[in-house]
Amino acid sequence: MCEEKEFLSLPRIGSPAPEFTAETTKGEISLSDYKGKWVVLFSHPSDFTPVCTTEFVGFQGIKEELAAINTELIGLSIDSVHSHIAWVRNIEQNFDVKITFPVIADLSMDVAKKYGMIMPGESDTATSRAVFVIDDKQVVRTIIYYPSSNGRNIPEVLRIVQALQASDKHNIATPANWEPGDRVIVPPAKNQDEAAKRMTDETMECKDFYFCTKELES
Ligand code: BEZ
Repeated sequence: MCEEKEFLSLPRIGSPAPEFTAETTKGEISLSDYKGKWVVLFSHPSDFTPVCTTEFVGFQGIKEELAAINTELIGLSIDSVHSHIAWVRNIEQNFDVKITFPVIADLSMDVAKKYGMIMPGESDTATSRAVFVIDDKQVVRTIIYYPSSNGRNIPEVLRIVQALQASDKHNIATPANWEPGDRVIVPPAKNQDEAAKRMTDETMECKDFYFCTKELES
């Protein structure tokens, strides 16, 4: 039984993503190799399990759309490279889906511990379903956790990367359930004059001074 405090480290949104070097199904990688690209680093509990298999098929399904927005996928579990290789070959045979993103074999749990991917209340030998969205400057931008028993909503992973990139590019926020093409939220007014002015600004639609939306120019 491991000490629970071993697993307490957790990167924070807005903080630098912890650097790592790890063995993967595509050879050794370091997070710093990905500088200039966005990264979705995700963990799964274990190879050859049904929920994880559906997730791998799902993640592979969004890989090209992520690549089109400068974003790469990296998987991880506490299994060996040989186990990962056998599993992704099995997925290809049974589901006709070729897994083309690298999968970290984190047998030492080094990466899992740095990223707080282990939930000892569930298991202290397997990672939970964690997702870290890391931006092109290697800052953590979103953290999502799901328990072992329930698969993630994979389109949400793509959607949050799209939303974060829209926020960065246009200095806007996005409302609940936002999808690309939807109206966006204009940042709050900084003073009374700005608050008054925006009520008659034809480039935005304001319900009230604090709630203004606009269309994004593409
Ligand atoms: C699964 O992927 O099916 C799974 C993994 C760990 C616990 C429960 C389910």
